[in-house]
Amino acid sequence: MKIRVLGSCAGGGLPQWNCGGPNSARSRSGELAPRTQPSLAISADGRRWSLLNASPDLRLQFASFPGLHPRPGTRDVPLDTVVLTSAELDHVMGLLVLREALSYRVLSTPWVRDAVLDHNAAWRLLEPAWGLLPLDRPVFLDREEVLEARFFPVPGKVPGYLRELAKPHPECCVGLRVTDLRSGRRLAFVPGVKILDEGTMAELRAADCRFVDGTFFTADELQALRPGAPDAFAMAHVPITGPDGSLPLLSGLSGRSLYIHMNNTNPVLDPASKEAERVRASGLEVADDGQEIEL
Ligand code: MLT
Ligand code: MN
Repeated sequence: MKIRVLGSCAGGGLPQWNCGGPNSARSRSGELAPRTQPSLAISADGRRWSLLNASPDLRLQFASFPGLHPRPGTRDVPLDTVVLTSAELDHVMGLLVLREALSYRVLSTPWVRDAVLDHNAAWRLLEPAWGLLPLDRPVFLDREEVLEARFFPVPGKVPGYLRELAKPHPECCVGLRVTDLRSGRRLAFVPGVKILDEGTMAELRAADCRFVDGTFFTADELQALRPGAPDAFAMAHVPITGPDGSLPLLSGLSGRSLYIHMNNTNPVLDPASKEAERVRASGLEVADDGQEIEL
């Protein structure tokens, strides 16, 4: 399986338009590489691709990745499936970027589809392409039936824009397991998770490569910039460090572990920071825009 990180940052990207914090300021001055919003592309053979979440930056992400360019002289884009792990705007806004043709399939849980389509009229353009995938049910992402995917439940939250409109449900925030049936090798994708409970850890342990919520390095990271801001757990993003942090749970797992969906405040976005060094010293990685992995 081939994996390409289309975007590694959380919603807002780096720099985020309204953020004057050190990472955003340094990325504006060219000291830190800018980053786009979170999405992965995966492929069985490097010829056709599927997306894991649809970032608002898809237009740029497609333009900078030849694997997702249309065949010369045609409108034939080698895109099979777009899988959504939640209804968060940074995971679904890219669908509107892909609205000119529905030559691919969208897959989400029934909760996520209803959440997006019932409350956001513009997204109804996508309805004809939208298939349902309940939890724990296998489906092939590709036409050759090599990449088998299934959702697993993870502790999460209802997206902020639906807080008054929808009740929490096990299907509102899920992880994705993708198995390459030729090699048996497994990818786990968990870009948003409140706490690494035993069920989530079992999925992460069983994977050969895992992408995990790296939104915040510490639980109180936002409060340093904005007093009164909620902590990481209240925002349903397990912090990397501190009590119940993800780093000690992930270090020592076999295979590769990468953080994704880093908020613009996260010090690991600077590869030269001591925090990034701590992640590397624990055997983990911080995913980078454009990074490619052969699994
Ligand atoms: C999140 O990851 O918590 C959300 O995407 C935040 C948001 O509403 O943008
Ligand atoms: Mn997000």
